[in-house]
Amino acid sequence: MGDWIEQRSRRAAPVTSRGLCEVRDLVLRPERDVEVLKRCPLVRFRLRPPVSLEQRLIVGHPEAARHIFEENAGNYKREERVGCVLAQLMGAGLVTGDDDLWEQHHGLVAPAIRSPDEAKLVRATVGATKQMLQRISGQAASGIELFGELRRIALQTAGAVLLDYEFGAEVEEFGSAFTRVIGELGERLMPFSLRLLPLGLLRETRLIRRRVEGLIAERRRTREHGTDLLAQLLTARRPETRARLDDVAVRDLIVAVLFTAHEALACALNWCFLLLALHRKLQDRIQEQLDEVLGDSPVNTRNLERLELAHCAFDEALRLYPPVPRLTRVATGDDTIMGYDVTAGTVVQISIYALHHHPDYWSNPESFDPARFSEQRAEGRHPFSYMPFGAGPHACLGKGLARNEATIVLAEVLRRYSIQLAPGCRIEPEGKLSLRARYPLRFVLEPRRDVRAVKWLQK
Ligand code: HEM
Repeated sequence: MGDWIEQRSRRAAPVTSRGLCEVRDLVLRPERDVEVLKRCPLVRFRLRPPVSLEQRLIVGHPEAARHIFEENAGNYKREERVGCVLAQLMGAGLVTGDDDLWEQHHGLVAPAIRSPDEAKLVRATVGATKQMLQRISGQAASGIELFGELRRIALQTAGAVLLDYEFGAEVEEFGSAFTRVIGELGERLMPFSLRLLPLGLLRETRLIRRRVEGLIAERRRTREHGTDLLAQLLTARRPETRARLDDVAVRDLIVAVLFTAHEALACALNWCFLLLALHRKLQDRIQEQLDEVLGDSPVNTRNLERLELAHCAFDEALRLYPPVPRLTRVATGDDTIMGYDVTAGTVVQISIYALHHHPDYWSNPESFDPARFSEQRAEGRHPFSYMPFGAGPHACLGKGLARNEATIVLAEVLRRYSIQLAPGCRIEPEGKLSLRARYPLRFVLEPRRDVRAVKWLQK
């Protein structure tokens, strides 16, 4: 057995003389994973009783990730405790589970999410971004917090593409409720959390569910058929009984999909705008390419793939700030990972953050360098050194959709505005359920002059 770094939790001081961080710190701040995991591919720690008796393991080496998600994927299942917390919002199955029900739900939603109607996706994202720009134009010069706006775009686009539903003004209340519930569930996922179910969480969850129930009822009344995800769910039959899904099952699936479709994307875009605001030269180069490729037309399905610099910037933002900073699995049987013994029942956290910053796999890992994702430089990279969308049987179904959507938002904002960080912002990531900015990031949007895009945007 290898040489474990083992630590036991204590409340205040660092736990070992080797400078490892306190467990709460390790849990809340994924950037600390890098410090810990660059010296040892696996770190084992126990939380102090009575918080928990279980043994936990954090891994941050691509070979360990390969083993867990590919070589012995059958041995690593989603953690029940995490599933139970998330199920309070989205029911059991997709996102929360790992059983037959998950498999069934996965099969039901996968085709519509993996192959969305591209033209509709582009139209919806361009439309939602343009609305956002009009909405914020009065405050753009004084500094605006973009996260809420990006969340709104992601929900509007998911509504249009996956549900054939146009969110109106209610999207604000709906999105805020989602953000608060996700924040609260994230708190409850902390291993040391003693939080009881707060009333606010129940209220917000009810609000989200009611809205989705209303949307389903309207669709049942008007038309059930169509090519979108909602139509497919309304007409789907369970394989074993041939019974249709009831409205609660459809509602839970839609809530799960809306959750996955907006939270990570809004976080990722927020970080990407931050990085571009801090790197004006790169921003200028992206704008040059946007002007060259788009001229005065909106983004469309033909020119989208030629926006290489914006695509690369987004990929690099996902590396530096992966919106899902850790994945959690439980070993169902004894195993050996990179020479280290792992006993059945061990909770294994895979630090995507540490993989993405590993100094042996990334040169200057902390620098923002979108060109890493150009075709030439990406060649030969370890496939598990970069996995913002997860890997294995649960890998993200919305990867293609998310990358295209993000590129369109970046393009439509940056062709019109140059972006900088408002003075006084504190930059600190916080990793609970997703990697959000702990303090609001406010941006100043400065209109670009003499750009061909303006003509189109003013229409
Ligand atoms: C930048 C944006 C996104 C990131 C970083 C991201 C990341 C991830 C990750 C890491 C997982 C794996 C979770 C696990 O292993 O337990 C996942 C799962 C999933 N993602 Fe995404 N995602 C993004 C956007 C989207 C979008 C736009 C959709 C569209 C609906 C989507 C749909 C899903 C679904 C349905 C699953 C669950 C798969 C399952 O339960 O097996 N994601 N995502």
